[in-house]
Amino acid sequence: MEKIGFIGIGKLGLDCAEVMAEKHEVRGYDVAPRVSDTVKVCDIAELVSESDWIFIAVPTPHSEGYDGSVPSSHMEPRDFGHDAVIDAINKVNQYANGVSKKVVLISTVLPGTTRRKFITLLDPVHQFLYNPYLIAMGSVKWDMANPEMVIIGTEDGSLTGVAGELIDLYKTIMNNDPRYEVGTWDECESIKIFYNTFISAKVGLVNMIQDFALRIGHINVDVVTNALARSTMRIMGPKYMTAGMGDAGACHPRDNIALRWLAKEYDIGYDLFDTVMHAREIQAKNLALFLVDQARANNLPVVIHGKAYKPDVEYCIGSYSTLVGFYVKEAGMPVVYVDPLADDPAEVVDTVDGPAVFLWAHNRKITYEYTGDQKDTQPYCLIAAGSIIVDPWRKLTSSEGITVIHYGNTRD
Ligand SMILES: NC(=O)c1ccc[n+]([C@@H]2O[C@H](COP(=O)([O-])OP(=O)(O)OC[C@H]3O[C@@H](n4cnc5c(N)ncnc54)[C@H](O)[C@@H]3O)[C@@H](O)[C@H]2O)c1
Repeated sequence: MEKIGFIGIGKLGLDCAEVMAEKHEVRGYDVAPRVSDTVKVCDIAELVSESDWIFIAVPTPHSEGYDGSVPSSHMEPRDFGHDAVIDAINKVNQYANGVSKKVVLISTVLPGTTRRKFITLLDPVHQFLYNPYLIAMGSVKWDMANPEMVIIGTEDGSLTGVAGELIDLYKTIMNNDPRYEVGTWDECESIKIFYNTFISAKVGLVNMIQDFALRIGHINVDVVTNALARSTMRIMGPKYMTAGMGDAGACHPRDNIALRWLAKEYDIGYDLFDTVMHAREIQAKNLALFLVDQARANNLPVVIHGKAYKPDVEYCIGSYSTLVGFYVKEAGMPVVYVDPLADDPAEVVDTVDGPAVFLWAHNRKITYEYTGDQKDTQPYCLIAAGSIIVDPWRKLTSSEGITVIHYGNTRD
């Protein structure tokens, strides 16, 4: 049994610490009050002195307005904030009393940051690994024990002793048999963040096909994307190959937004990330204008069904629903949301009294299908007869008094 400490037990850190606590002695420290049945929440002095491994999962936030929930591709690119990571490193130095610790940074940072900003601060008595997670909200514990790969960064990219020890530690908690990818800190920062931007680009491409389907006609976007998804010789696997809502959440949009800064900083000469983010915004605008057209033609209000960035979670950060809502309002039409979980109550209503144009933003079957069989999203409120549901996932069927429009299918 290993002695493990987590500095930062928020959305990512707490669940990960609890998975580790099924097999190990785990402590957690956070600047905000936190509770857990299995992780011992303690002060920083105890955490550092009693733990051999110290995982850092503190935030690396972007500035206000840079999360992707409102347009930002026109704004000055910026790096993430590193104050919390620097604070955590300083606290490890302060409370370790010269005893060597195995320090593992999980927080997402841009390539080059660890070497430039963090290593110089850490007391050389400690051993350091950069180990970002490919974890999504709503399935943190499952993702932690079933990762596609574990990314471990060392100074020179070799499998050092402590990197091998970390692999042995992970083997005690894994349900699958993941790849272990070992590289330099900088390579591992790159693996993490370019993994995310590949997903954003992929979603941007399939949603682009959806835009063309609407303009050209006689095209069901699914026929096109399913054929591409099955083209594993050249194009890769089928995930994120269903056109629908845009890429969203606390990580992907902001990673792209931050990479815009990196592209400028290193004078790459072009900004692919800006293009991906700009496309995402225009795709949201196109969907918003489609809703507005439906609403005006039928004299109905617009309701977005699902405000959080995906089903089953409360987080509205980086939400594509609110980005669509932004453009609905920009077109001069009010918008409300229904979502029993949403952590941002602005414009959220519990019930919708009459018929409306609903955007079916959430589809939990599609979002979580990789974790096993999933139930469909159930209505969050009564959908009155006379309503129109715009389904960007093309799964619902029309019923008595309710018309479903499959956004992206213009075949018939
Ligand atoms: N949430 C995810 O799914 C996810 C996935 C992969 C990577 N990440 C990355 O992991 C990091 C943490 O993300 P999160 O979603 O858990 O953020 P979060 O804000 O939910 O949690 C961070 C926690 O750290 C605490 N904290 C802040 N400053 C601190 C300090 N100086 N000392 C101790 N605790 C401090 C906060 O109170 C909070 O509880 C970020 O870099 C994020 O990009 C998150």
